[in-house]
Amino acid sequence: MEQQLTFKRHRRLRASTSMRSLVRETHLRPTDFIYPIFVIEGSNIKNEIPSMPGIYQLSFDHLLEEVQEAYDLGIRSIILFGVVSNKDEIGSEAFHDHGIIQEATRMVKKDFPDMLVVADTCLCEYTSHGHCGVIQNRDVDNDASLELLAKTAVSQAKAGADIIAPSNMMDGFVVVIRQALDEAGFNHIPIMSYAVKYASAFYGPFRDAADSTPQFGDRKTYQMDPANRLEAIREATSDVEEGADFLIVKPALSYLDIVREVRDNFDLPVVAYNVSGEYSMVKAAAQNGWIDERALVMEKLTSMKRAGSDLIISYFAKDVAKWLQESN
Ligand code: PBG
Repeated sequence: MEQQLTFKRHRRLRASTSMRSLVRETHLRPTDFIYPIFVIEGSNIKNEIPSMPGIYQLSFDHLLEEVQEAYDLGIRSIILFGVVSNKDEIGSEAFHDHGIIQEATRMVKKDFPDMLVVADTCLCEYTSHGHCGVIQNRDVDNDASLELLAKTAVSQAKAGADIIAPSNMMDGFVVVIRQALDEAGFNHIPIMSYAVKYASAFYGPFRDAADSTPQFGDRKTYQMDPANRLEAIREATSDVEEGADFLIVKPALSYLDIVREVRDNFDLPVVAYNVSGEYSMVKAAAQNGWIDERALVMEKLTSMKRAGSDLIISYFAKDVAKWLQESN
């Protein structure tokens, strides 16, 4: 008998737009996104960040316009970063009850009660040396920094922040913040931990935007070595044990294996941070006409969800929401 040649016809499920939609496994929605906004003191300021076209440092008046725009596009979550001039050794502005983020949070929540405000809880935007904590012997002192971080988290919660997102990579930051929030009457406020944060060159444009470049050294004694995978599991395990409610992996694009690892090992919502450098690279290539920006952005953000993230912090949030509206 003659041998029958057999093979599978995978192309059956790719034959048309409708067929492809029918079998698509991963989708983006506006509510998947957390949109980062840089707030600056003063009024009538809208400074475009040179390395991040389309992203601005905004004074309070413009902040509300920006939030309105995001809201109208269906985005329901923003993360705020402060740009200030009065910096000191310990970053006092971070935990001042009338600090820039506290005031911005109050303002946004007053006009947009159902826009979730995520507070980035860190000191680097407020310290004169640009490091994420208190300096002792030219390095960041872990436990002294924890105390200030806890104070920052409580003042952000008092101002109305819906989610506290500690990002300074001190050991124990989740448990210390959890305890401080609970004691201050905020046991209902979740912690979105930057559990897995690498010492990455992809943060360059953000540091220009937030004026938070370290004035000496680097962040390698507290942020993680990009070469390490098992360390990501150790970091996330600690944060889960300490009471984290969400786990962030940052950056996203070069770390999709880590996103998958965290997804497979933990049952909390996983957040991928599509960082500034990942944004700038796409913008630069697009401005040169070298890539199809829309197709490329949709592809890479979809890949972050496919890798296992539930949510994405991205400077592209508004663009994606607009494109999703257009394609409906
Ligand atoms: C604060 C913080 C940083 C980013 C988010 N929170 C900067 C850093 O760690 O140096 C970077 C975000 C981005 O690059 O988009 N520590």
